[in-house]
Amino acid sequence: MMILMLLLFWACQDPPPNNEPPLTDSAQPDDPHQDTANTDEEPPRAPIPLPPLTDAPDLDPDEDVVQVELTAAPKTHRFVDVDGTEHVVEGYAYNGLTPGPTIRAKVGDQVIIDVDNNLDQPTTIHWHGVGVPFEMDGVAWMGAPIAAGASFQYAFTVQRPGTFWYHPHFNTNRQVSGGLYGVLIVTDPEEPAPDLDQILVFDDWHFEGLDDHDHLAAEGTWTVNGQIQPFWDLDGGQIVRARVLNASNLGYLDLRLPEIRLLGGDQGLNARLTAPDNVLMAPGDRIELEVRPAQTDFEWINAPYVHQGGAAWGPEASLMRVHVDAPDDAAPGLSWPFSGLRSTEDPGRTDITYVFSGSNESGVWMLNGEVFPDVTIEELSLGDEAILEIRNLSPTEHPFHMHGTRIEILSVNGIAETHQRWEDTINVPTYGTVRVRMIADNPGDWMTHCHILPHADGGMMTVLRVHESPEGE
Ligand code: C2O
Ligand code: CU
Repeated sequence: MMILMLLLFWACQDPPPNNEPPLTDSAQPDDPHQDTANTDEEPPRAPIPLPPLTDAPDLDPDEDVVQVELTAAPKTHRFVDVDGTEHVVEGYAYNGLTPGPTIRAKVGDQVIIDVDNNLDQPTTIHWHGVGVPFEMDGVAWMGAPIAAGASFQYAFTVQRPGTFWYHPHFNTNRQVSGGLYGVLIVTDPEEPAPDLDQILVFDDWHFEGLDDHDHLAAEGTWTVNGQIQPFWDLDGGQIVRARVLNASNLGYLDLRLPEIRLLGGDQGLNARLTAPDNVLMAPGDRIELEVRPAQTDFEWINAPYVHQGGAAWGPEASLMRVHVDAPDDAAPGLSWPFSGLRSTEDPGRTDITYVFSGSNESGVWMLNGEVFPDVTIEELSLGDEAILEIRNLSPTEHPFHMHGTRIEILSVNGIAETHQRWEDTINVPTYGTVRVRMIADNPGDWMTHCHILPHADGGMMTVLRVHESPEGE
């Protein structure tokens, strides 16, 4: 009911009719052009522009070394809803920011992050999607977390370009949903430069309090870069590379945009350009889009979707409105260096099987019938190629995430990929099967889990051990 009311409420927030002057970033709180539909209510909120994210300053002058400081601390988050209501959430942030500061590096750089833990509890930072050495992976398995009041230095070299992110891996659901996360971008100097390289971080918040994040059926209120339904000013003819992250602990996005030009996924550029009608983003997923505004404004629509079974009934909701400041013809797309490579053919064998099971009713979430940390460790030798089959035996979707390496998607529910698709997080549909391939190129004990964080914290996590040496050595 709550969901429906929220969605209906959004749906009632009519955009200004076309003959009204457009929203601009000079809009003031008393802007006369804002929505005046709710005349008997308190005045609706003034339009809020899409907040830019802050880059973490690079403290090392060496151009091949990026050194940044992150402090995790409590933070009171404030959100102003479209009806003007202020919501307050007691949570956390890195350097006082949610999303945290963006870490930018280029392929081959050394990245050093000095972390201070000013929380009242231990924490860690996991570098989601980046192939880091095991000691730097930010998990509390085989090592201690960073105690309250303590510091730790993470250091690793970034090898693959892409849009990655960072977040704690201790008391994970609570800390991430409280606002501890940020984006790590690894650029490749070979890729063309758009007019604008824009990060869009989506999160959904539950204003009844953080603990309400555990109520799996409840959809929250989505924010973009920390704002509810901002507007994004672009110029016609501009070319934007949008790097999109779903940082929610459990909410899915089913994005519908006028023309989707999908450039990449979790692990950088895809093998080719595609133009799907919609893109599903499970928690933890990233996509990259080429946005080419032209003559008219448009909305970023989220179609109703719940992880208990997928597409749902209900009105569509606008997450953000793109306002075209200077209408013009769309620019031609850039020539992105797509590899064009075809998918690896599925050899048919299965080396490791992972089975998701559990239910909200039982409150137990399992991987291969086990609850972390009481798990059977699967093992591979360095250099092994492994085919993994992930089966979902539950009425709830689960995004499968593997640490330490990337995975090539072979098929989803028996439908083979045509072109190479590398991810680190892949949604496994309700009662569905996903087959993936990986090369065991990074020794360590890698967490493998569902990225719906209450599920992971509830035990839906296991360990894949990659040995230090090839088989027989
Ligand atoms: Cu983004 Cu183990 O998680
Ligand atoms: Cu799950």
